[in-house]
Amino acid sequence: MSHTDYPLLESQLVAMVGDETDALANASNFVALLYNAMEDVNWLGCYVLRDEELVLGPFQGKPACVRIAMGSGVCGTAAATRQTQRVPDVHAFPGHIVCDADSRSELVVPLIVGDELIGVLDIDSPTPDRFSAIDQAGIEDLCRTFCGLLRKGGGAI
Ligand code: SME
Repeated sequence: MSHTDYPLLESQLVAMVGDETDALANASNFVALLYNAMEDVNWLGCYVLRDEELVLGPFQGKPACVRIAMGSGVCGTAAATRQTQRVPDVHAFPGHIVCDADSRSELVVPLIVGDELIGVLDIDSPTPDRFSAIDQAGIEDLCRTFCGLLRKGGGAI
C-alpha cells in the first residue's frame, strides 16, 4: 500500500531544482528525493540512453548492472516501447534482469524530453505487487515534470 505524497514531491522537485541547469546534479537529487520518500523500495535510479544502449546513471541502492540493451529486461522494454512497465512479479517477466536479488516488483518509466527518449527511471521493491496504478500515475507525473526541468539544461543527463 502506497503512502507517497506525490503532489508534495512535485513541489519539492521544482523547488530543489530551482535555477540549476546541470542535468547530472538534478538527476542525482531527483533519485535521492524519491528514494527517501518512498516506502518499501530497495533500488531506485536512472538508466540513461547512450548510443542506443541504456547505461547506469544516478541511483540509490546496491551496485547494479551497468549496461542494458534496448528491448532487454524491464528497463529495455520500457525504453524500446516508450511505455511504463509496472511489473507485479519480476520473476514472471520474460527476460527480467536480476541486479538486486531482493527485488520482487518493479516500476520503470521512460524519460522523454520533447519527443526524445533520454533514459528510464527504474524503481524496485522487495515486496510483490508493491506499485499501484496511483504510484504509476504519480511517478509518471514526476518524470514528466523532471524532463520539463531538464530542457533548461539542454535535455540529456
Ligand atoms: N531489473 C531491471 C534491471 C535493472 S535493476 O533492477 C537495477 C531490468 O530487468 O531491466
